[in-house]
Amino acid sequence: MQTTLLFLKPDAVQRGLMGEVLARIERKGLTVVGAKMMMVPRDVAEQHYAEHKEKPFFEGLLGFVTSSPVLVLAVKGVNAIAVCRNLIGATNGQKADAGTIRGDFGMSGGNNLIHGSDSESSAERELKLWFKDGELCDYDRTVNQWVYDPSDL
Ligand code: RTP
Ligand code: MG
Repeated sequence: MQTTLLFLKPDAVQRGLMGEVLARIERKGLTVVGAKMMMVPRDVAEQHYAEHKEKPFFEGLLGFVTSSPVLVLAVKGVNAIAVCRNLIGATNGQKADAGTIRGDFGMSGGNNLIHGSDSESSAERELKLWFKDGELCDYDRTVNQWVYDPSDL
């Protein structure tokens, strides 16, 4: 089991796509173990995207993610980090495969709807950055017995 950190970016919230995206995550068989809506403090945005600090798009990216509320999610499942990255699709919505969130709803490389952790170390770091101790609900959905077969677990 892995837990990954996702957030629906300001464009997804403003466009009324929270339900659509959450539905895809739930229907896939993943478990939402944390959720909160918030305005992103600038220092959290800076820490989250620290790897891009020297990139020309960094300031624009910070301005975008702090411009309007986001919906932060912690999502659990077997191999959840890669599974969520596959659900999300390539960075630019114009190039992302149809069937992915960005491929189905996005037309931009910057306004690309949703973030997902890209590795186990990123997930660990980002979960600590976005959620305080005690904010996650570590439960299992009883339907998991129908989502997974014993060899998956
Ligand atoms: P994310 O971190 O948000 O899940 O997206 P990602 O892994 O697909 O893409 P990444 O390379 O980590 O880039 C982080 C975010 O920076 C913005 N970006 N803009 N204008 C540009 O060339 C450019 N490149 C990246 C995007 O919002 C991207 O999601
Ligand atoms: Mg990234």
